[in-house]
Amino acid sequence: MLEISNVVMRFGGVTALDRVGFTVADNEICGLIGPNGAGKTSLFNCITRIYRPEEGSVHFNGQDLLSLRRHQVVRHGIVRTFQNLALFPSLSVLENTVIGAHSVNTPRLVPSMVARP
Ligand SMILES: Nc1ncnc2c1ncn2[C@@H]1O[C@H](COP(=O)(O)OP(=O)(O)O)[C@@H](O)[C@H]1O
Ligand SMILES: [Mg+2]
Repeated sequence: MLEISNVVMRFGGVTALDRVGFTVADNEICGLIGPNGAGKTSLFNCITRIYRPEEGSVHFNGQDLLSLRRHQVVRHGIVRTFQNLALFPSLSVLENTVIGAHSVNTPRLVPSMVARP
């Protein structure tokens, strides 16, 4: 389902990801572990297109994620949360949670006006 191959990401002289590759199968739960600075967040940022790796490929269900713009990956099922949470202070806990469902929700005008779910 997720195929990562030879991903290279550099920040100046620091090579954060040096030819990283692995696959995750459908229905498989995969954890990524490593000490601080190992490159976990950099890899998540490459998979979710926050970063574009200098080399390598990232495919999800056959789709080349690196060919997409970063706002387009969510439509292919790629979602994430951030290490430093950025919540909306004016919203409730429930409302902050619901915000995350925007990509799977297709609001329609009339049901919204009569407050149907
Ligand atoms: N935006 C950035 N600019 C410069 N260096 C970065 C940046 N992001 C990560 N790094 C460096 O890349 C390496 C991997 O960091 P990171 O991916 O945050 O590791 P982890 O999430 O495993 O702690 C570290 O050496 C870090 O300092
Ligand atoms: Mg991290």
